[in-house]
Amino acid sequence: MDRGLYCWWVVNLLVVRVTAKIHRSSGPSEWIAKKLNSLGRPFGRAVDIASGAGRHSFLLSELVSDVTAIDNNPELSKYFKETRINLVCIDLEQPTWPLNDHFYDIVLVSNYLYRPHLTNTFELVGPGGFLVYETFGEGNERFGKPSDPNFLLKPGELRKLASDEFVVIEDFFGEVGRPQVAVKSRFFARRMEHLSE
Ligand SMILES: C[S@@+](CC[C@H](N)C(=O)[O-])C[C@H]1O[C@@H](n2cnc3c(N)ncnc32)[C@H](O)[C@@H]1O
Repeated sequence: MDRGLYCWWVVNLLVVRVTAKIHRSSGPSEWIAKKLNSLGRPFGRAVDIASGAGRHSFLLSELVSDVTAIDNNPELSKYFKETRINLVCIDLEQPTWPLNDHFYDIVLVSNYLYRPHLTNTFELVGPGGFLVYETFGEGNERFGKPSDPNFLLKPGELRKLASDEFVVIEDFFGEVGRPQVAVKSRFFARRMEHLSE
């Protein structure tokens, strides 16, 4: 085989293997999968906030026919080609919240935090809908990244933000051992079906 062609083939093989490894190691969160499975009935619309390559959007699409994945990185579109998931590329950190008057039956956030729009994120949950939120918490800096306080939830922070319209089903804050040792905040809540006047 020609030397140049051989080098190209080896590099290509490595790229394919590394890409496959990255995808395998970034399966959905066990906790999120468990919460979604517990919902047990088909829902109308779901959104995956700051979806990345969509590891949870794909889980959502098993439950819900109408899934929107939102991220500001247009390069992610390759992961959503030929799927039923609608990737919307917008900046979720612009001063004016871009999702005003959008309501979903499931709002999912994983490994993402932008405090100035946290209240707006709660507002995305329609009557009877669910918020499933898992990200890193204060103290995670002991174990690695993220370590910036702007990216770390405080204990009880989401519960404090939830209005009376939300019933908190689970609110965990602490160290976890999987998939790696970290401090995690896990919040699962439902917005009441009939909102108070
Ligand atoms: C750590 S990744 C988490 C991805 C995914 N939620 C997951 O758990 O696999 C954070 C994601 O937030 C997205 N992101 C960061 N800043 C953003 C912004 N201003 N607007 C929308 N998405 C943003 C990034 O592009 C990235 O995909």
